Amino acid sequence: MSASPDSAFVPSWLAKPADANDLSPLVWPASATRDDDGILAIAGVSTTALQREYGTPLYVLDEDEVRMHARRTRAAFEDAAAAYGVFARVYYAGKAFLSTEVVRWVTEEGLAVDVCTGGELAVAQAAGADPARIGFHGNNKSVTELTQAVHAGLGSIVIDSRDELERLISIVSGTGATQSVLVRVVSGVHAETHSFLATAHEDQKFGFPLSDAPAVVARIREVAELNFIGLHCHIGSQIFGTTGFAESAARLVATHGELLAGGDVPVMNLGGGFGIAYTTADDPTPIEDLARGIVDAVAEQCTSRGIPMPNLAFEPGRSVVGQAGVTLYEVGTIKPVQLDGGNTRTYVSVDGGMSDNARTALYEANYSARIASRTSDADSTVVRVVGKHCESGDIVVDSEYLPGDIAPGDVLAVPATGAYCFSLASNYNYVTRPAVVAVRDGRSRVIVRGETIDDLLARDVGVVAPNGRNA
Ligand SMILES: Cc1ncc(COP(=O)(O)O)c(C=O)c1O
Repeated sequence: MSASPDSAFVPSWLAKPADANDLSPLVWPASATRDDDGILAIAGVSTTALQREYGTPLYVLDEDEVRMHARRTRAAFEDAAAAYGVFARVYYAGKAFLSTEVVRWVTEEGLAVDVCTGGELAVAQAAGADPARIGFHGNNKSVTELTQAVHAGLGSIVIDSRDELERLISIVSGTGATQSVLVRVVSGVHAETHSFLATAHEDQKFGFPLSDAPAVVARIREVAELNFIGLHCHIGSQIFGTTGFAESAARLVATHGELLAGGDVPVMNLGGGFGIAYTTADDPTPIEDLARGIVDAVAEQCTSRGIPMPNLAFEPGRSVVGQAGVTLYEVGTIKPVQLDGGNTRTYVSVDGGMSDNARTALYEANYSARIASRTSDADSTVVRVVGKHCESGDIVVDSEYLPGDIAPGDVLAVPATGAYCFSLASNYNYVTRPAVVAVRDGRSRVIVRGETIDDLLARDVGVVAPNGRNA
C-alpha cells in the first residue's frame, strides 16, 4: 500500500507521531505494553491471545485501571471536602458502562452508584449494590420505575419535573416510609470540553429552572413521606477545567442558601462530566485539581453568603471507566479513495463499527488507534478506520496515523473505549454485540458474553427456521 500524501485532509490537532506503535499513557491503560514480539498486551494479557480465545470485535476492560480511577476519584473529592469539614460522596454514573461486575468493582472501591432507568437499577440490584447507596435520576421516570425505586429503598431519587414529583407523591403517600429526594436544576451553565457558556435559560429537557426550585421544594416539604435533601445539577460531559463547574456552583449555592430558610439542606450534588483523553491532543485536568477547584468554589460561595457548607455529591462515569477500555477489531478491507484535490484517503475497514462504538457517528468524537498484533517500521500515514455497517457515517476513528503497511488480518486496538461504547451499543444491521472481557494480572474472563445469531433471532416471533437455517 502506498503512503497517502498527508496534507489538507489531516485535522489540525493530529500530529504525526515519532513512532506510530507507541502507547501514550494519556489514552491507554497504565498496564498497556508491547511484548517481545511487539504484540500489545493489557494487564499482562496478549491481545492476539484474546482474539484467538474470544474473537473480535471485543471490548477489553482493565479491572485494575477501573479500580484505580474509582479509588483516586473518591480520595480526590473526599480530601477536597474534608478540608472544609464536610463529606463528599462519589456516585459512579452507571450509564457510562454498567454490568454487575463493574458495579462490584466500583462499590468495593467505596463508590455509590447512580442509575437513570429501571433497567440500570435492575443491574445495580442484581449486583447486590446497597440500595441506600444508589441514586436514581432521569427526566421521565415512570410510575413503575419510581415504585421499583421506592420499594427497593433507594438512598435518593432526583426529581426532574412537576409531573414526576406528583407521581412520586402518589406512590409514597400513606406508606409511612420516608424517601429522600433531590431536585434537579439547570444552572444555565453549559460546559463543553474546553469552554463553557452561561445563559439565564437552557433549552433542554432536564430539570427545573433554578428560579422554580423554591416552589418545588416547598411542595416536597408538605409531604411527610418525602425528605428534601438538596439540589442536583449536571452541566455536561467531557469537560476540561473547573470554570464551568465553579460558575454553576456559584449559581446553585445562591438558591441553596434561599432554601435553608425553610429547613435543612444537607447535600449538594454537582453531577459528573470530568473529561478524559481520547487522543494525545486532549489535555484533561487531573481529577485531584478538578475536585479541589470545584470544592473550593463551593466553599468560597458559602463563605461569602455566610451559610454552612453542605456535604457534596458527584457522579462521574466516563472518568472512572473510559481509559480502562480497549476495543479490539480485525482489519478487513483496505481501500485507497481518491479525493478531490489529489489526496488519497485510506479507508481501513474493521469487523465492528458504529454498533459497538456509536460515539464517533453520534458526537463526531475523535479516537486514536494502534496495530495491536505487531509493530511496524513502515512510515505512518493518515487512515480513517470504518466499520462494516451499511452507513457512510459508520466511522470508528476519523483520522489517525498508522503504519503504512497496515494489512488485512492485523488486529487493531482502539483505546479509551471504556465509557459510552458498550452502553450505547446496538444491533444495527443485525450485527451481534461484542463480549466484554475483564483482564487482570495476566488473566482474562468474560464479564458480559457476546451475542449470538440465536440471540438476535430470539425476539422475532415469526422465525420458522432457527438460526437462519432451513428447517
Ligand atoms: C445526571 C448525570 N450524571 C452523571 C453523568 C455522567 O457523566 P460523565 O460520564 O461524563 O462523568 C451524566 C452523563 O451525562 C448525567 O447526565
